[in-house]
Amino acid sequence: MSSTQGVSAKEEIKRAADIVELISQYVQLKKRGRNFLGLCPFHSEKEPSFTVSPEKQMFHCFGCKKGGDIFAFWMAYHGTTFVEALKDLAERYNIPFDEARVGAREKRAALKRQQLLRVNEIAADYFFNALTQGHEGAKAREYLSTRQIPQGIVEDFRLGYSPNSWEGLTRSLEREGVDLSVAALAGLVVARKGGGYYDRFRGRLMFPILNVKGQVVGFGGRALGQEMPKYLNTSETPVFHKSEVLYGLHASHQAIRSSGRVVVVEGYMDMLSLWKHGFKEVVATLGTALTEQHVRKLKGYTSEIVVVFDSDEAGKKAVLGSLSVFLNHGMVGKAVVLPQGHDPDTFVNQEGVERFTSLVEAASPMFDFYIHKAMALGDGSEEKVRVLEEMLPALAQLRSYAMRALYVRRLSDAVGLREEVVWAELKEYQKRSRGRSGASPRLTEKLSGARVSKKYNRDIHFLNLIVHHEEARQRLADTDWTLLLSDPVMQRLAKVLMDRGRSNDVDMDTVLESIQDPEVEKELREIMVMPSFYGPDAVETAIGEFEQKIEEIKLAALIREARERGDMVALNEALKMRARLQAPNQTNS
Ligand code: GTP
Ligand code: MN
Repeated sequence: MSSTQGVSAKEEIKRAADIVELISQYVQLKKRGRNFLGLCPFHSEKEPSFTVSPEKQMFHCFGCKKGGDIFAFWMAYHGTTFVEALKDLAERYNIPFDEARVGAREKRAALKRQQLLRVNEIAADYFFNALTQGHEGAKAREYLSTRQIPQGIVEDFRLGYSPNSWEGLTRSLEREGVDLSVAALAGLVVARKGGGYYDRFRGRLMFPILNVKGQVVGFGGRALGQEMPKYLNTSETPVFHKSEVLYGLHASHQAIRSSGRVVVVEGYMDMLSLWKHGFKEVVATLGTALTEQHVRKLKGYTSEIVVVFDSDEAGKKAVLGSLSVFLNHGMVGKAVVLPQGHDPDTFVNQEGVERFTSLVEAASPMFDFYIHKAMALGDGSEEKVRVLEEMLPALAQLRSYAMRALYVRRLSDAVGLREEVVWAELKEYQKRSRGRSGASPRLTEKLSGARVSKKYNRDIHFLNLIVHHEEARQRLADTDWTLLLSDPVMQRLAKVLMDRGRSNDVDMDTVLESIQDPEVEKELREIMVMPSFYGPDAVETAIGEFEQKIEEIKLAALIREARERGDMVALNEALKMRARLQAPNQTNS
């Protein structure tokens, strides 16, 4: 949480920033009523429930319940600490920020990351200079020209060369006063058994890997000749996560947004060659299959993801691997397969960008692609069974029942098997794999909609009324409002609000910050982000109805007790009161 020392910078940033403007750089938002809506970057969903409120300067996801202010967004999206978020945003909005004033533990974590980024930055410069100026760089420059990479790309992507020496970078870092243990953590140098360090990357063409903020988080290094491994990549560090990182995104995110699509390739060279030919909506995974984290990241920019696979056979398998990742995000991933022997780099250099673009434009949704390829091999019953068996894992990974039902139908149509057969096979497969992995069957729970009906019950309406309308809070504070609420979290929230409700001008943001209980905090945020259910004319009526409801509940209790005691006088009295209470209402309905 925030440190008290940071308050002034924090407040200033809040004043300068607009949460809608900030978030829409990462998530596609559409205006919906007073709020903005988009697909949540923090969990898989196909219907947008990620809500940004310009009035409250808050975001809240009705699906996964993540939410908060701009700092919360920044921390969650970029995986930073609070202090880093403060610093990043201060920089972004030109607000002076004194780092020395923030909490010690946060500071240490932030410091480590900053140190890593600084070492990477120095190393990137060192490699760049070695490539562009050094005598030894001539070899690498020559290599680049054989790969048809022009100087402009070298500069835009800060390519470099790691000289073939054991201590070139190590000494250079030392001269810059870098703590070499940090460089070791960054994966740039390796500790020697007998003490000291040596360079990890030697004699390689270097690709700095930049995050979307343009910071160097890691490196890939390609051998110039046949040495193994062909590519050496940074291993996991606190700033580098291989399964999340997308090479080139720092440069291509604008093109992705404006073209409305992104092409995903596997290699550094593939990305750069397409870029060079003016095909700019492109990123590369680092030789890995597309992960959930990749898709989540890309989803903020576009809903159309086209994955390029090298060749038919490997491609077909990889498509199956990616299919469920896309379907779980409610997205149609498309597949392009290049002619045998090509990768995007060789294809675009030899065949030209127009042909590449037409392949992308003709790309099929992965499901259709796979079925088509599989059925092309023949449509005998053996092939059908094989296709079915290969598809089962992908189907089983679908989180929503509706989605599974849809694809079971499509698969049975496509291969010509009865739906019941596919269902039976799927159930059988799930039973087998659950036995192996003990997978939890609770994944669909969130999508079952059970919570939705609860959302509109009395608790929600009551809380909505007292959060958005101060007069309601004041009028109802002295009644027995606790009788109205069934949900314990709602009760706790209402209590917090009512305790302050008598005073004028309760600032909900302050209330929100003061709440210690995360469950209560989530509920309040959710209600704050959701607009009031009651227009100005309806508030008075709503207060009246809640007051009446309270009386009805009390009377019902009296009636029950009187009946139990057999007290006919009291019972009669209570029944009369109830009739009177309900009378005005009946003329309305
Ligand atoms: P070039 O031969 O330079 O054209 O490579 P490529 O772009 O065709 O890459 P390739 O298809 O061989 O591999 C795709 C990606 O996988 C590369 O960009 C690397 O990120 C990764 N990769 C390839 N080989 C290795 C390796 O030996 N080790 C590691 N760690 N990664 C590799
Ligand atoms: Mn290649």
